[in-house]
Order: sequence, then structure tokens, then C-alpha cells
Amino acid sequence: MKRYSISELLQSEKYLQEVIIKGWVRTFRSNRFIALNDGSTIKNIQCVIDYDNFDENLIKRITTGAALSVSGTLIESQGIGQHVEIQVNNIEVLGDSNPDDYPIQPKKHSLEFLRENAHLRVRTNTFSAVMRIRSSLSFAIHQYFIQNGFYHVHTPIITGSDAEGAGEMFRVTTLDLENTQKTEEGKTDYSKDFFGKETSLTVSGQLEAETYAMALGKVYTFGPTFRAENSNTSRHLSEFWMVEPEVAFNDLDANMDLSEDFIKYVLKYILNNCDEDLQFLNQRFLQEEKSKPAIQRSDMSLLEKLQFVIDNNFKRVTYTEAIDILRNSKPNKKKKFKYIINEWGADLQSEHERFLVEKHFKSPVILFDYPANIKAFYMRLNEDGKTVRAMDVLFPGIGEIVGGSQREERLDVLKEKIKALNIDEKELWWYLDTRKYGSAIHSGFGLGFERLVQFATGMGNIRDVIPYPRTPQNAEF
Ligand code: 4AD
Ligand code: MG
Repeated sequence: MKRYSISELLQSEKYLQEVIIKGWVRTFRSNRFIALNDGSTIKNIQCVIDYDNFDENLIKRITTGAALSVSGTLIESQGIGQHVEIQVNNIEVLGDSNPDDYPIQPKKHSLEFLRENAHLRVRTNTFSAVMRIRSSLSFAIHQYFIQNGFYHVHTPIITGSDAEGAGEMFRVTTLDLENTQKTEEGKTDYSKDFFGKETSLTVSGQLEAETYAMALGKVYTFGPTFRAENSNTSRHLSEFWMVEPEVAFNDLDANMDLSEDFIKYVLKYILNNCDEDLQFLNQRFLQEEKSKPAIQRSDMSLLEKLQFVIDNNFKRVTYTEAIDILRNSKPNKKKKFKYIINEWGADLQSEHERFLVEKHFKSPVILFDYPANIKAFYMRLNEDGKTVRAMDVLFPGIGEIVGGSQREERLDVLKEKIKALNIDEKELWWYLDTRKYGSAIHSGFGLGFERLVQFATGMGNIRDVIPYPRTPQNAEF
């Protein structure tokens, strides 16, 4: 007898096959109907048993969460809700699940409770749907870039440089922290550390990706990145995954085009390939929205939001235009923003980004040409001498989903920038070499993978779209 996945059987056109399936019990009703799930689809298969043919002790062991091997005949379903079911001949309990203390009962659990049981939460419909979509998005990302002539580069995770210059890095060390050797100046002597220098977990693979773009032309890196910022929000993780393409000879316009085309492609991919999971999450999203106060409610369903992004051009707006809009906006005048926008140069907070996207433009927005002093050192300085060729893609409900720029390719300008920011030029000697030898304009961006998954699944909290979230004061599991 052949073992099938539940997804295969539910799509099967043939009845009466002798089949084996293995999975976990979701529910067991009336001592007759087992709903079995094996992760291959959000749907359960109904397994029907004839009570009289089974040992009572075996029946007692069919409880929510138990692992079973079931063999039987695939027949046309008599009940509603499924077109096939299994008429069971034999059941083997592979692993019992004690119904008295199994946390994932067949009822609605709060997301907070499930976060505390992150090792089991993927056994729920919501989390299995989210994680299957996460996997599909990851696949679509690789597919997009490979199909478009990009090479996948594995940039390092342990690094000696601070790519974003923000200093929010986790240190990597094997030094005995209780007892570090000191230099003559009384500072920790990192020459005694594992790598002979100070090292950290990377905040971005960009700088290394740039060096590869300057030979391979079009590259992308997709890996874990780490930020030691103390942000306890629904959009920040301390460990998250970032997709970073980098393209030689692309200017900022081409970079914006790439980001838009790329995002639309991966969202289209899941609309075409993850229908069941998206239908489920769409229903869930509508339920959640109903429980919100009317003014906070989304006027679109999840599926409509995805389609909207695919069908519409992202609005491209300069930072300067955005500041004008914000300064004259109602929430600014009525002091409804936590951070009031008074003048040009202000850093935009997520409340401002969301106002622009959700209230003003009602569309994804690409903001570009930001003030130089609120952006990283590597961005190309504009002719005005005060703005840089930066771009942020802003999404409804999410805020910033992509951050990128055209890079400063002029060695002298880049050196000036580095000096002004008190960055040690020697640390970046290899990066500066790309500007010495065959420098050319180039651009790239970073997309926060979890923010994309959040948008695609309609989940409100970023902690619910990654298997084991790392956030300040939390690294359980
Ligand atoms: O805007 P960021 O900081 O840009 C960079 O790191 C550039 N080096 C990328 C590049 O040009 N290659 O981060 C890029 C994106 C953000 O737009 C956001 O989506 C996500 O990464 N991100 C986070 N996601 C979750 N938790 C955090 N703490 C994040 N910080 C940034
Ligand atoms: Mg950013």
C-alpha cells in the first residue's frame, strides 16, 4: 500500500484506492469521524471508522494531537465539506497525546498564548497557513532573482564592520567576560579575541553584496540579520531575514522599478499558488477587522489588499514633498501625531509613513531623496549637497517594507562622508577599493522578509510570522 499526503488525496479523482496516510488528529467526533492533518494542506481529511470493528482501548487513544498511521479506502464523501473521505480499515497510534495537558485544543487560542507555545503553535490552522506562505514567498524570491539573471551570494553573518553605521550590533566574542585582558589604555583587548578584532552579527549583507555586484553585475543576498535596538513594536525583531539585491549600473529610478516589480511578482506568486491558505487567512483577517473600532478597520479584505498592490503603480514622492504634505496635514495641525513635523530634515516616524500611505495617497509609496544626515554613509549625495539618493518603500499597515539607495560611487565624496561621521576609514579599506578600481554607479535595497510575510498574511504582529521570534528580553526556544 502506498502512503499519500493528504493534499494529494484531497485532489485525487480516483476512488477506492487502498491508501495509507500519516498525520495528527485535529478532532475526533462521535467516536466515528477523525479529522487528520499532515501539514501538506490546511485541509484535514475525514477518516471514518466503524466503532464496532475497533478495540475500545485503541479508540481511547485517538485524541487531539495524537500521531496516527491510517490505512483504508478512499471513497466519495457522504458528508458535506469534502468530496472524499477515508473508510478506515486499520489504525496504528504512532504517538499518543495526553488530552489533559495538550495545550493546543480544538478551540480559538489567543496569539499571546500561542507565542508562549511557539513550538506547538504551527499545529494550528493560522500558523501552518502563515508558515506555508512564508516558505512560498521565500521560494518566489529566489525564483524572481534567478529568472532575472541575478546570482545568489552568501554574505557573511559574522562581520567586523557596521554596515548601517547605527551601532546597534550584537557582539560576537569568546572572551571571558568576567575577566578580559586590558590594553595599555585600560580598554578590552580584542586582539586576544577569537578573530583578533572586535566582531558582531551583521545588520545587513549590503557592503559585501556591493563588492560582488561590481564583478557579477546582478546579485542578491538573503539571510538573517540582527539588530540590537530596543524596539518593542509589532514590526521589529532582533533577528530577522533580509533580501538584498545589488545591481551594477542601476541608478535610483531603476532601483525603484526593481523593487516594485519584485514585490508584485512575489505577491502574484502566492495568489497563484497559495489559494487555500490565503482564503483561510482572508476569513481570519475579516473576523479580526470586525472586532476593531470602525475607524481602524481596513476598507479592503486581505485578498483585495494584495490585488491592489499588484494592480497599482507605487506613488513616487520626494521626501521634500512628503514633508509639505505632512506639515499641512490634519493630524499634524491638530497635534495628533506623537512627533509633530515642524521642519524639513525631520526623520519620519511610522505614524507619518502610515499617514502618507493609508490616508493621503491610499497606495504604496516610494519616498526618495532624503536628507543626507538621517541616512547611512554609503548613499549617493545629490547635486543639492543636502539630500541623498535614498528610497524607502512604504506599505499600508506596515510602514517601511524596503530601504535602499543608489550608492556613492565617487571615492572622494565617500571618503569625506566617512570622515564626517567619524568612521574609521581603515575598517572599510576593502569597501573603498571598489571605488578605486573600476567604480561605477550601482544601487540596491533591503526588503524585510518578515514585514513582507506580515503584509501577505495580514498578521498584525511580526512575532507571528517567524517561527521563533527574538525580541528584547525574549529568546525562548
Ligand atoms: O532600511 P534598512 O535598515 O536598510 C539596510 O539595512 C540596507 N543596508 C539595505 C540595503 O540597501 N541593502 O533595512 C531594510 C529593511 C527595512 O526596510 C525593513 O523592512 C527591514 O529591513 N527591517 C526590519 N525588519 C524587522 N525588524 C527590524 N528590526 C528591522 N529593521 C529593518
Ligand atoms: Mg530603513
